[in-house]
Amino acid sequence: MKGVVLAGGLGSRLKPLTKVTNKHLLPVYNQPMIYYPIQTLINAGIDDIMIVTGGNSAGDFLKLLGNGKDFGLKHINYTYQEGEGGIADALSLVEHFADDKAICVVLGDNIIEGNIRQAKKDYENQDTGAKILLKKIHDPQRFGVPELDGEKVLQIEEKPDNPKSDFAVIGIYFYDSTVFDIIKTLKPSGRGELEITDVNNHYINRGEMTWNKLDGWWTDAGTFESLLHATNLVAKTGANKLEVKNANAAD
Ligand code: DAU
Repeated sequence: MKGVVLAGGLGSRLKPLTKVTNKHLLPVYNQPMIYYPIQTLINAGIDDIMIVTGGNSAGDFLKLLGNGKDFGLKHINYTYQEGEGGIADALSLVEHFADDKAICVVLGDNIIEGNIRQAKKDYENQDTGAKILLKKIHDPQRFGVPELDGEKVLQIEEKPDNPKSDFAVIGIYFYDSTVFDIIKTLKPSGRGELEITDVNNHYINRGEMTWNKLDGWWTDAGTFESLLHATNLVAKTGANKLEVKNANAAD
């Protein structure tokens, strides 16, 4: 399985912190934000990774991450999203990289405490379709929120005023190669973006969506409050530390 980290967009909600740099280069405690989603993929055993960047300071990703040696990788792939067309727009740029294979997509501002190995395993046992991860939270209005009927997800609403559950759809997704055909059918939402929630609802309507609950804490880091929260969580409890040997470490 290949991995994708989406680190495009303009980080408007974090201005002026993002006026001259990219949101995903900002610190979350002792690491740049982008380290956490990369570690999430690597700890799940995914080492063929593409970063979609955009906006300001795209060249700094290369300076920071290079060819991935610090993460024990042989190589990292990069591409560039112009503007802020939405998460699904950013994802459309990795079609050639995905090469008709399944992908795991992690949003660049999503940080987890644990790992997604079990979800990856479960998804690999699923022939086609998609998988999302859900987390019970106190403020679902800020996120994609599923309506559930037992184990079945009926639909997902993006930032609903009246959420139909107290779960968030977190920013880690598993997709088969039909995701790119789905994106080509999307129309921009009210906020002018191609929404990942619309992609997920397509899979739900086809009866091809499964979900797992995420263990351990999860947070995004795209607002001042959540950036502070993420920093405090990582400082207090640590996050998903890189589990493979650091290529630069002394033997
Ligand atoms: O954090 C999980 C939530 O992420 C989900 O529950 C929502 O369903 C999903 O829509 C998304 O919500 P946000 O509104 O919080 O997403 P945001 O615009 O902050 O973008 C999250 C990441 O996606 C961002 O850190 C980089 C990437 N992105 C976003 C946009 C808009 C891109 O790569 N390109 C983009 O154009």
